[in-house]
Amino acid sequence: MRFLVVGGGGREHALAWRLSEDGHEVAVAPGNAGTRLMGLAHLDVRAEDVEGLVAQARRLRPDCVVIGPEAPLALGLADALRAAGLAVFGPDRAAARIETSKAWAKAFMARHGIPTAAGRAFTDAQEAERYAASLAGPAVVKAGGLAAGKGVFVCGDAREAAAAVRAVRRLGEAGREIVIEERLEGRECSLIAVTDGRRVLPLAPARDHKRALDGDRGPNTGGMGAYSPLPDVTEAQVDAIRRRILEPAVAGLAAEGCPFRGALYAGLMLTAEGPKVLEFNARFGDPETQVLLPRLRGDFGALLAAAAHGELHRARLAWDPAWAVGVVVAAAGYPEAPRTGMPVAGLEAAAAAGALVFHAGTVLEGGRVLVRGGRVLTIVGLGPDVAAARERAYAACRAVGFEGAWYRNDIAGGTVGGPQA
Ligand code: AMP
Ligand code: GLY
Repeated sequence: MRFLVVGGGGREHALAWRLSEDGHEVAVAPGNAGTRLMGLAHLDVRAEDVEGLVAQARRLRPDCVVIGPEAPLALGLADALRAAGLAVFGPDRAAARIETSKAWAKAFMARHGIPTAAGRAFTDAQEAERYAASLAGPAVVKAGGLAAGKGVFVCGDAREAAAAVRAVRRLGEAGREIVIEERLEGRECSLIAVTDGRRVLPLAPARDHKRALDGDRGPNTGGMGAYSPLPDVTEAQVDAIRRRILEPAVAGLAAEGCPFRGALYAGLMLTAEGPKVLEFNARFGDPETQVLLPRLRGDFGALLAAAAHGELHRARLAWDPAWAVGVVVAAAGYPEAPRTGMPVAGLEAAAAAGALVFHAGTVLEGGRVLVRGGRVLTIVGLGPDVAAARERAYAACRAVGFEGAWYRNDIAGGTVGGPQA
């Protein structure tokens, strides 16, 4: 089959890589240095250029368009491509609200009895501050709109919450609505399901490390690393998350007239009272995708195409028992103000160290790979146990370099049954 992958991050490099491994023909728009170095066809059009993408996709006539990031979903790219008669893996704009408006998502979860943190949405900053101060325990302050994972502040007290409300407001449009919720305790888990709008097929659980610094300190980021499998999440728990969270969400969206075809991502806290939703995303996770796709068995392309056509039949997915540990190598200044333009060295040595090197914020210029964004690479090590997978990933991290490069040293470090970082 012929696929068009829209986007240019680490997730899209992993999607393109996996579809190619499965023997499919792949074009990427706009891609990054990593997808360029794979020798794939590229469309020179931004992921947010809806008109341009529709025009080029009409000419390419792919069997399936896979939309990676949230921004084009929010702009209605899936709607426009479907209107042009193309099969699309990715929800329409209305269904993508489950990610693009946290206020809408909170109300949606309440309508459908989906367990989540208690909370409320505000447009008035002072009311938001008062509500945060009125909560018995610590609060979490979130920008209502899209903020690339950087609009969430986990606060210890009312003073921190008030500062967070002001920080959210500084985000502009993304911070017009402010969601305040109770702070939940537990381990986190990302469970992403492929769905055709009716059937729900969960991938293996993965765990993302969202904070910038070792020991889960520092600001929230888009994700600094991930690993899979999760030995502390049982099949029975995955089943419960499917029944209590993913299936009601998919059925609820369909019942409300906006069926969801694509990847529905549940970011969860596994609390003493059971799993609760921290956020939904309307797409595959980044960097979760980079650690999940190397472990997935079977034809991934056939799975995406079936979902895009509303014909998901398979009851279960099969997984390689190997561990995958993915470490994000970031640019100096990320997440606030990443520096760009530096040449990236050591990519071949990293691959020779036995790791998969997925590019994110890179660009190929005059044969050189240059840094273009905050999360520059996701380096994935595979191994029979977590220690071996970590060692592979970190050996490759040490082999690559650019001025100011940094990464967390404790990805998958505190794993149940695994070594401490
Ligand atoms: P989100 O983008 O909403 O998933 O939030 C990003 C991160 O902030 C999550 O992965 C959690 O680590 C943390 N977080 C968000 N909401 C809560 C909450 N209600 N309680 C505790 N931590 C939270
Ligand atoms: N890794 C978190 C996300 O994709 O939003």
